[in-house]
Amino acid sequence: MRDKILAAAVLGLTAFALAVPTLAQEGDPEAGEKTFNKCKACHTIEAGEKHKIGPNLHGVIGRKAGTAEGFKYSKPMIESGITWDEAALAKYLTDPKGTVPGNKMAFPGIKKEDELANVIAYVKKESSE
Ligand code: HEC
Repeated sequence: MRDKILAAAVLGLTAFALAVPTLAQEGDPEAGEKTFNKCKACHTIEAGEKHKIGPNLHGVIGRKAGTAEGFKYSKPMIESGITWDEAALAKYLTDPKGTVPGNKMAFPGIKKEDELANVIAYVKKESSE
């Protein structure tokens, strides 16, 4: 009996230790929706919505930078060679001008790590639904 309790405790602790770091790193799409308000001035994200000042972001994860149909990108964005995944988004959204010099997204960047993770989680979710 004692051994069983001990085993359960060890298992419980292991599960806890494994779960915590993942939670700390993964963004919360619901919280990210608020941050995405900053992007909405320039971007839509649902399928089939119009481009605004920036391109529609539907399907952006896994897409090559500068390839949304019908949007006039800057040359540096088209030639950046980026394929958008979470890491590429994190880099670009932290420092748009430094990551793709000369690109025309007039956005200073998100410095807070949790905001960044949340907005990326939101983009990931919304852009694929
Ligand atoms: C002031 C307008 C503006 C704001 C605010 C803005 N963007 Fe942009 N964004 C643009 C423009 C314009 C481009 C195209 C850049 C180019 O072609 O050089 C762009 C490009 C992008 C791209 C590359 C898309 C592609 O198809 O290659 C991503 C991803 C992106 N923005 C995400 C975001 C996110 C997420 C936010 C909010 C955190 C945001 N942007 C805020 C204007 C904006």
